[in-house]
Amino acid sequence: MTRVHIQDLGIRFGKHEVIQGLDLDVHSGEFLVLLGPSGCGKSTLLHTIAGLNPVSAGSIHIGGQDMTHAEPSRRGVGMVFQSYALYPTMTVKENLAFPLKMAKTPKAELEKRVAAAAGMLQLTALLDRRPGQLSGGQRQRVAIGRAVVREAKVLLLDEPLSNLDAKLRTDLRRELKTLHGRLGNTMIYVTHDQVEAMTLATRIVVMHQGVIQQVGTPAEVYDRPKNLRVAGFVGSPAINRIDGRVGEAGQFVSPALALPLPAALASRQPGEALTLAVRPEHLRLGADQPFAAEIQLVEPLGNQHVVWLGSAGATLSAVLPGQPAVAEGAALRFGFDAAKALWFDAAGERIEASAQFSL
Ligand SMILES: Nc1ncnc2c1ncn2[C@@H]1O[C@H](COP(=O)(O)OP(=O)(O)O)[C@@H](O)[C@H]1O
Ligand SMILES: [Mg+2]
Repeated sequence: MTRVHIQDLGIRFGKHEVIQGLDLDVHSGEFLVLLGPSGCGKSTLLHTIAGLNPVSAGSIHIGGQDMTHAEPSRRGVGMVFQSYALYPTMTVKENLAFPLKMAKTPKAELEKRVAAAAGMLQLTALLDRRPGQLSGGQRQRVAIGRAVVREAKVLLLDEPLSNLDAKLRTDLRRELKTLHGRLGNTMIYVTHDQVEAMTLATRIVVMHQGVIQQVGTPAEVYDRPKNLRVAGFVGSPAINRIDGRVGEAGQFVSPALALPLPAALASRQPGEALTLAVRPEHLRLGADQPFAAEIQLVEPLGNQHVVWLGSAGATLSAVLPGQPAVAEGAALRFGFDAAKALWFDAAGERIEASAQFSL
């Protein structure tokens, strides 16, 4: 079983410090997903764990051993890149066998491992083909297989599905999760796609500009985001945010709406900035709701639809089941499930205010 323990890690390219003082404990056998916008340092961190970038400060322990400055081949990690990087002149079988050949694995063992990986990744019928005769999804399976045959204790995957079309991505995503269930190894997976993160991860690490914002289960980062960055990055359409202030008499006041503050926020000073954030699925539409808005746009999605509302300069989205029955441009009223609303202070940090209150 293999834990990856990163302490006080610093990574710099010349003068550019991409990661500073990063601590991360990857549990043995977990599927950890590094999630964040492009350029936030996910690949840099992953490549550093693999030994492909020099470390400027701190340490990396893999399976209890200090691997901070170890050669990549000594770390017991396998890596899958976004681009498949297969050898075009080799067959699928030769591609899969290549890392084992390099490691001088005995022939019988090599055959056994290649057959097992091919079976697991549905490549058995394709072993004699060359990469040029494969679809994108099949090529990426071979690339994953090449990491799997080495029986690495830790698999590192850098956006392995992002070059595939939507349908293949969903299929291969499911296969990856099944594969992890079978292998039981530690997986560290990089993506900027929050749906991939939510569906695959045992825990998600949300990053922003080289800094970890939150580490938690998919449910934790979705329901209890630590700050507005996390709240805004996870969930689609994005969480609705309504910026306002503490008003007189325990009210939250914004141009779009005013409502009583929950008890946990009652002692806040009048004038203090607050942000109310509500997930689109917690909005309610209907004549009996407290706030006025106009419908800007309706997006049908088949099984559900998104209604975009304009209210005093704020644009809000509501996700509702079934087909839309409302018209663009119409006036309507909205409210929300107040118990599920999230509150953030002026610095964007979430305030614990789970107490129930009614509108
Ligand atoms: N080899 C490199 N030399 C200089 N800067 C780099 C290098 N690799 C990455 N960077 C910089 O580090 C930052 C993080 O990049 P990266 O880890 O690729 O982000 P992500 O994978 O999250 O999109 C970016 O600002 C990028 O320009
Ligand atoms: Mg990257």
